[in-house]
Amino acid sequence: MSQELWSAVERYITDLLVPPDPALDAALEASNAAGLPPINVSPNQGKLLLLLARLQGARSILEIGTLGGYSAIWLARALPADGKLVTLEYDPTHADVARANLKRAGLADRVELRVGKALDELPKIAGEKRPPFDLTFIDADKPSNPEYFRWALKLSSRGSLIVVDNVVRDGTILWEDGSDPGVAAIRRMTQMIAAEPRVSATVIQTVGSKGYDGMLIALVVGDA
Ligand code: SAH
Ligand code: DHB
Ligand code: MG
Repeated sequence: MSQELWSAVERYITDLLVPPDPALDAALEASNAAGLPPINVSPNQGKLLLLLARLQGARSILEIGTLGGYSAIWLARALPADGKLVTLEYDPTHADVARANLKRAGLADRVELRVGKALDELPKIAGEKRPPFDLTFIDADKPSNPEYFRWALKLSSRGSLIVVDNVVRDGTILWEDGSDPGVAAIRRMTQMIAAEPRVSATVIQTVGSKGYDGMLIALVVGDA
């Protein structure tokens, strides 16, 4: 079992089931050209996000961590024409790249890109009296994950889905010594979820071009 094999299998799956797409390909090219780090979800993970959003019948989606808008394109495409994706990004350069990518993808009207620290924006969103989000994708700075999950739950309702990226990170989730703040936060978040009766959750371990990682999937089963 090796990175080489994981990548080859991912290529096989992607070639068959996730064919090249001009807007998505252009988004990655523009992100690269602008020097953004290549930490977007992989194409087959993007497809998973789209399928989860469709399964949800999502009309409103929240994303924490936009980067160049690659996952945002997948999520926004799952929405009906009158649906909304709110995506949060604190780096203005990333946000500029994302805005152009979303526009090129024809999704500008379905996406509200908010520039600022997520922990500043989330309380504002909560004060705006909008309908609960059907799906939240948490994929920003890992040390804040416990707080992001708390906000996601607050902004959800029974039946909403919360997905958290990068919860396994090469198995470092097992590190107990607290030496890595990201790992410690992911463990804290997972323990919080375990003790939270309003959600039912699991983690899918993933391998592929992005290495060995995992996504946490939590269904809100109680009144949020
Ligand atoms: N979801 C994207 C990848 C996001 S990478 C995709 O798959 O295509 C993580 C992003 O979170 C980066 O762009 C980073 O600038 C942003 N970020 C980091 N800390 C943040 C914060 N406190 N608030 C909002 N965004 C943040
Ligand atoms: C990193 C962040 C991500 O969201 C990701 O999917 C991969 C890596 C990072 O900060 O290194
Ligand atoms: Mg990620």
